[in-house]
Amino acid sequence: NHECTDVIVVLGASGDLAKKKIYPTLWWLYKDGLIPKHIQIIGYARSKLTITDLKNRTQPHFKATPEEKAQLDGFWKVNWYVAGSYDKGDDYQKLNKEITKFEKPGKKVNRLFYLALPPSVYEPVTKNIRENCMAIGDGWTRVIVEKPFGHDSESSAKLSNHLSELFKEEEIYRIDHYLGKEMVQNLMVLRFGNRIFSPLWNRDNIASVIISFKEPFGTQGRGGYFDEFGIIRDVMQNHLLQILSLVAMEKPVSTGAEDIRDEKVKVLKCIQQLKLEDVVLGQYVGDPEGETEDSRLGYLDDPTVPDGSVTPTFALATLQIKNERWEGVPFMLRCGKALNERKTEVRVQFRDVPGDIFPEGAIQRNELIIRVQPGEAVYLKMMAKKPGMSIDCEESELDLTYGSRYRGVTLRDAYERLILDAFVGSQIHFVRSDELAEAWRIFTPVLHQVEREKPKPITYKYGSRGPREADDFLTKSGFKYTGTYKWTNPH
Ligand code: BG6
Repeated sequence: NHECTDVIVVLGASGDLAKKKIYPTLWWLYKDGLIPKHIQIIGYARSKLTITDLKNRTQPHFKATPEEKAQLDGFWKVNWYVAGSYDKGDDYQKLNKEITKFEKPGKKVNRLFYLALPPSVYEPVTKNIRENCMAIGDGWTRVIVEKPFGHDSESSAKLSNHLSELFKEEEIYRIDHYLGKEMVQNLMVLRFGNRIFSPLWNRDNIASVIISFKEPFGTQGRGGYFDEFGIIRDVMQNHLLQILSLVAMEKPVSTGAEDIRDEKVKVLKCIQQLKLEDVVLGQYVGDPEGETEDSRLGYLDDPTVPDGSVTPTFALATLQIKNERWEGVPFMLRCGKALNERKTEVRVQFRDVPGDIFPEGAIQRNELIIRVQPGEAVYLKMMAKKPGMSIDCEESELDLTYGSRYRGVTLRDAYERLILDAFVGSQIHFVRSDELAEAWRIFTPVLHQVEREKPKPITYKYGSRGPREADDFLTKSGFKYTGTYKWTNPH
């Protein structure tokens, strides 16, 4: 629409997130013509930077090719930079003046503020945006906020109250970038667009659900940040719980943002507060035989981590959903750093076949696996007759591996989708304040107890599967693992 200009202000433009994620994302959207046509990008931070400085910092992360040079020049022509503090109204007036430059009579200017900032400055920054930088006329103002949204129920409620005094919920976009991932978005279609799954999606047929997040590297110098949060706050309370809510919620009235978020809140409300006895906590130690330097170092060897820290880098937690559909089915969330592989997946394990007629041990449980990353795939582990003359049973699969089925299709990065959603005003894949409050309600008691009692996490070796106790715990919770089947990415 040539009657409107969209301005995105990246607050914290000199920081790491802006450099590695936000500017590259804006460039990808720009070069593919996905971003609004009349876009203007303003960086804001305390350091005095020129556009050339900003370019030198960020462009190495763009993965741009030499052929894209002309487009790159075009991109930098719509970039601006304002230096200012995070707490002085005058500086935001200066920022506002820069935005107002794009205001022409009869032209609407929309303003999207991206807070790529540490949470310590959220309050003054949002207050100053509200007081000095709101859109005028019929232009809209939207604010994208990154986690952490507080560190427990109380601090999160305080931040939510602060934000709700300044902005309407429709103006606040809380990013959980897992909601921007292809396979997480696919859950809606898999669940509600297939007759074959919906009648089975309940306690009568499903034995357990495991949602796992594994990373093969440690804190990599981010230990200072990480130590204050720990893996439960870093990954489980947000990314994994968001996935859980999409796996477990009832069918929403429509695919509209509010209808979906209503269902997510509803199922979260049915989850009981987590207890320490339902959690296994771990912390990695270096592997003296590790091949890389990183792998020989444990969490406590990271110089940015305080001596003797008991912050968990691995956690397994079993959540119970007390509703008609799920009562008694354990939902196990497992996440960890410095493990044996990189993998995020949802594993829905079905119950044993009743009245089994085959030789004992021949039939294994069905599993539906939604592999979020890497190598997006959905596969259904099932039994089939082993090809040949005899009637032997074999574990096989129905396999939708994206690399084969959608060869050559580029899957967009989560941030690209989410920033675009914020431009078009779609809040489906953003976290509503009541969802956030429920997420903290579930985890706050256990987090406080851990902080008070400081239980020593179980150590596990860098590059391993995590503490053995976690696997034992899965078995105890009813998950059956035989190790007789391994899915191999055919691509
Ligand atoms: C972030 C966590 O939210 O997600 C990191 O703070 C984690 O600790 C990251 O590494 C994982 O994101 P992705 O998209 O690489 O799986």
